[in-house]
Amino acid sequence: MDRKPAHPETVSAQALGWIDERTRAITPPIHLSSTYLRDPDNQYRSGRVYARADNPAFDQAEAVLCALEEGAQALLFASGMAAATAVFQALAPGDHVLAPRVMYWSLRNWLMSFATGWGLQVELIDMHEPAAVQAAVRPGRTKLVWIETPANPLWTVTDIAATAAIAHAAGALLAVDSTVPTPVLTRPLTLGADIVMHAATKYLNGHSDLVAGALVTREDGEHWQRVRKLRAQLGGTLGSFEAWLLLRGMRTLHLRVRAACASAQRVAEHFAQHELVAEVLYPGLPGFAGHGVAKSQMAGGFGGMLSIRVAAGRDGGEAAAIATAAHVQLWKRATSLGGTESLIEHRASVEGAGTPAPADLLRLSAGIEHVDDLIGDLEQALRRAHA
Ligand SMILES: Cc1ncc(COP(=O)(O)O)c(C=O)c1O
Repeated sequence: MDRKPAHPETVSAQALGWIDERTRAITPPIHLSSTYLRDPDNQYRSGRVYARADNPAFDQAEAVLCALEEGAQALLFASGMAAATAVFQALAPGDHVLAPRVMYWSLRNWLMSFATGWGLQVELIDMHEPAAVQAAVRPGRTKLVWIETPANPLWTVTDIAATAAIAHAAGALLAVDSTVPTPVLTRPLTLGADIVMHAATKYLNGHSDLVAGALVTREDGEHWQRVRKLRAQLGGTLGSFEAWLLLRGMRTLHLRVRAACASAQRVAEHFAQHELVAEVLYPGLPGFAGHGVAKSQMAGGFGGMLSIRVAAGRDGGEAAAIATAAHVQLWKRATSLGGTESLIEHRASVEGAGTPAPADLLRLSAGIEHVDDLIGDLEQALRRAHA
């Protein structure tokens, strides 16, 4: 009798059940070779030539990601930025693309400098409003719509299915930065997206010990072929050890993401009505603007990321926020997200000029520590900052 397809938890816990047939090893070896033997008749029957283009160390992690996202193919990259920029670089100069005003700042900076300099026509819009997407899309000219949901650092929620319908009607692809929800909570390809991007540096790996990126496609089309070629030619290729670590990290993805979601929800609820907090931004709060859409496209939690706007102290909101971050003892004052340890940062200081982050905003990445420790530490830091 055929077995039912495994649940996603099983897929990641066993990395698709792969074992090394030669040694019977349960975890894969790390292939470090940069080159592959050519057959005597001048062919490359193994299909592998040179490790800038391809690497057996990628196979298992790419297969797991493909299964989790329900995609056709996946590609690992040297970083989330290498993955994201490949999607844009596979377009042609003159192509029109839409991206959100609120999105991961470094990609926004790259789009508004290098990508526009190279000839892409990049338009930043309020992506979470379908009417704004409809008004901005140029049928036949818009080749790509890029969304991030929930989006850094305000956690703005965009309706993936609605945006996919608008993009497709105009002949554009829809790509989704799904770093924050991960396939545990949202699978954009099943909602109509064409490409999913991950900063695998974050939750997929989950231990703050590597930098990696990934793309998963719904179809192996012309654009995807160009993306694959770009990885091989530009060389934004992940190292073998990093690919191995990523596969190991993904084995616990579901446990980590669910723990982070539960803590983020508790932290958000605790501080939502707090006298020293002006506002909590979190898609899991019923009063949050994107809560309804988040509920419809995020299953099992609203993510491990939230932001708090610190109430103004004697010297204003910005000073109070920076002082709060200075007084934490357990949360780590660091950029990034998605690790086992909880992180806190004053986002406007990181993003600099042009940031949509209010000056009083602290971005929080909930880890997997005991939530009471996290709440207690933030409480004491807020009190000391306002003393
Ligand atoms: C949502 C999001 N997308 C993309 C990136 C870029 O990933 P990387 O730092 O691996 O290049 C980040 C990094 O912080 C991110 O948070």
